[in-house]
Amino acid sequence: MNILILGSGGREHTLAWKLHQSKKLEKLFVAPGNAGTNAIAHNLAVGVNDFKGIKNAVLQHEVNMVVVGPEDPLVNGIHDYFLDDKELQHIPVIGPQKAAAALEGSKEFAKEFMCRHQIPTAAYQSFTNETIEDGFKFLESLKPPYVLKADGLAAGKGVVILEDLQKAKKELQSMLIDAKFGNASATVVIEEFLAGIELSVFVLSDGSGYKVLPTAKDYKRIGEGDVGLNTGGMGAISPVPFADQEFMSKIHQQVVVPTVEGLKKDNLPYKGFIFIGLIKVNNDPFVIEYNVRLGDPETEAVVPRIKNDLVEVFEAVANQQLNQIDLQIDERTATTVMLVSGGYPEAYEKGKVIQGHDTIEDSLVFHAGTTMNEGQVVTNGGRVMAVTSFGDDFKQALKKSYQNIEKISFDKMNYRTDIGFDL
Ligand code: AMP
Ligand code: GLY
Repeated sequence: MNILILGSGGREHTLAWKLHQSKKLEKLFVAPGNAGTNAIAHNLAVGVNDFKGIKNAVLQHEVNMVVVGPEDPLVNGIHDYFLDDKELQHIPVIGPQKAAAALEGSKEFAKEFMCRHQIPTAAYQSFTNETIEDGFKFLESLKPPYVLKADGLAAGKGVVILEDLQKAKKELQSMLIDAKFGNASATVVIEEFLAGIELSVFVLSDGSGYKVLPTAKDYKRIGEGDVGLNTGGMGAISPVPFADQEFMSKIHQQVVVPTVEGLKKDNLPYKGFIFIGLIKVNNDPFVIEYNVRLGDPETEAVVPRIKNDLVEVFEAVANQQLNQIDLQIDERTATTVMLVSGGYPEAYEKGKVIQGHDTIEDSLVFHAGTTMNEGQVVTNGGRVMAVTSFGDDFKQALKKSYQNIEKISFDKMNYRTDIGFDL
């Protein structure tokens, strides 16, 4: 079996690492990949949204399955592109079709879906430039903080939370009238603020059956104590210690089942990962968001805990036989800590030589923003590498990651030393 993974982050290196262990795998390709995937697979210089280029690569390399990492190509319809093409339609794509990918591609669509299927979520209303006055009134009716969400994809920056009513009104104006996030903020969802602790649950769906994967919690802010600018994610822990059996069964009954059943009722075929961002409010789960892919860096903590052959699991997704898979999860805790370029998430330099990462023995090192330059591994992005370790609990696992991070260096390397501080 030849497999192509689309993407270039830590998530994709982790998937490559896991698929690479399968006896069923012959050749593994990653487009465009990074220095980590280059070491275990063939990197292809094709962008994730270059559907024609992907088609050529799939035919040239006799690819039998495509695994989609990021949301962009899914929201743009890569799965539908395969289904609509006679030469590609027999090749399974892991990742939903465009219609269901709108769960991530449109916040308004996601909110309507949740309301239609009685899935607990924050109360909301949505507005366009024609209804901006109603938006101002709605803001006035709410208590601070105010949560404003650009409807479309905005590279993870489309959610703005403000304490001050005037600033919230200004933000609404900037999104709707000044197109702050381009077309993505032509519609804005305003919702009630929910106070609680966040966690994520991952579900793998074959469109008929599903498997609940381990929970994870990520740390999104750049600063210690979860302050400062939002990043793609600075670290993650799996499982989440406070997600006990009772809470998990609430998540299952109130969120997972109605989500999977809702997709079926709405006739939205779904073969792929559903990432459910949740917040625990007084012991009850509320959905903050859906993503139609795995999380990054959650993947670096979740996937290493899956004991099954991932090729077999993906084949079961393709053939709608997921109910025949007995998912085996490592009981230990996995934690990952992201090493980032100095300055990230604002401006940062690239091309810094990375040293020591290949000397680590008792942690897994997953590459994110790295590339090869004259035989050396150099930085090539804001998030550079994730160091994943196992332990009996998250403290033990983190200790190992932090010890091993001491051995890795590049100019202006930065990371959070307080992952798990709130648990
Ligand atoms: P998102 O881009 O949808 O993941 O949202 C970014 C972050 O905003 C989430 O991870 C939450 O921390 C926060 N957030 C989103 N919606 C709400 C809400 N209704 N109440 C409180 N926090 C929220
Ligand atoms: N870590 C958050 C995300 O992947 O969206």
